[in-house]
Amino acid sequence: MADLVAAARAARRHAFAPYSGFLVGAALETADGQVVTGCNVENATYGLTVCAERVAIWKAMSEGHRRFMRIAIVADADAPTPPCGACRQILWEFAGDLEVILANLFGETGRFRLADLLPMPFDRRLLKT
Ligand code: THU
Repeated sequence: MADLVAAARAARRHAFAPYSGFLVGAALETADGQVVTGCNVENATYGLTVCAERVAIWKAMSEGHRRFMRIAIVADADAPTPPCGACRQILWEFAGDLEVILANLFGETGRFRLADLLPMPFDRRLLKT
């Protein structure tokens, strides 16, 4: 677990966040134990910013990973920094009920199941096709 948080902390150092100044790192553990990282990448339009969690998911998907166990998310904040609503939806789509480990620069600040962070999700089970 410490390794996953350390990987997220290292990824955070690559964050491109000149507008918010809020650097975030994420590390996703695949079912076969590999770690795929991401950082937030902001944009001058603001709205095209992508969070660290989604960068990690997109990278992992594009490298062929399809099953995920845990994600660690690191930010420089006293309060636990949970994934935003958009990231919760994307994580649910591709990772399901994974474990979400929150940490700051000093250590772990919280541990959750995604199902508890995203109750009553909209997903493929609700589509007719
Ligand atoms: N951000 C993340 O990367 N992940 C989160 O869980 C929360 C927010 C980023 C988006 C934006 O670049 C900055 O943090 C401030 O919202």
